[in-house]
Amino acid sequence: MADKTSGIVAGETHGLYKADGDDKALHFGLYVKGQLTSVISCFEDQDEMQFRKFATLIDRQNQGFGTCLLNYIIDEARRRGVKRLWCSARSDKCGFYEKLGLATTGNRFVRDRMEYVTMEMRFSRDFGSNP
Ligand SMILES: CC(C)(COP(=O)(O)OP(=O)(O)OC[C@H]1O[C@@H](n2cnc3c(N)ncnc32)[C@H](O)[C@@H]1OP(=O)(O)O)[C@@H](O)C(=O)NCCC(=O)NCCS
Repeated sequence: MADKTSGIVAGETHGLYKADGDDKALHFGLYVKGQLTSVISCFEDQDEMQFRKFATLIDRQNQGFGTCLLNYIIDEARRRGVKRLWCSARSDKCGFYEKLGLATTGNRFVRDRMEYVTMEMRFSRDFGSNP
């Protein structure tokens, strides 16, 4: 992404879907040629960070933008010194997160008829992230 209007920026959340704690969350957007293409919101609580509202525009999916943004968030979590980065993943998305190094936990639940599983990445103070 070499042009001036592409990259990852931190900003405020927009749109219809508001979540509790939005005002205190960190909201990131990945822009491609001026178009907001992928978004993610991070909610920090003591030494943990949860990411939510992760999405890429439908016609831009499977082009590597989500991976790029999530890798940025993994680095951001490491920079902030959190011990654990986690999310409630749709069960059908586990493979995507596993490729990026998140591990499936035993915590599964159903919300709005959709099955979710908690996925996490734990960071070691001495050696960066695991794995
Ligand atoms: C999840 C999401 C944000 C990923 O964004 P994206 O920009 O498409 O991500 P990328 O293009 O970087 O990665 C897609 C890759 O994951 C793979 N992938 C997608 N779904 C997968 C799954 N269920 N299991 C394994 N791999 C999967 C794709 O094949 C692709 O692989 P490749 O990089 O080897 O070609 C996007 O699919 C999305 O917005 N989905 C709708 C909202 C949503 O489900 N959010 C997450 C809720 S848990």
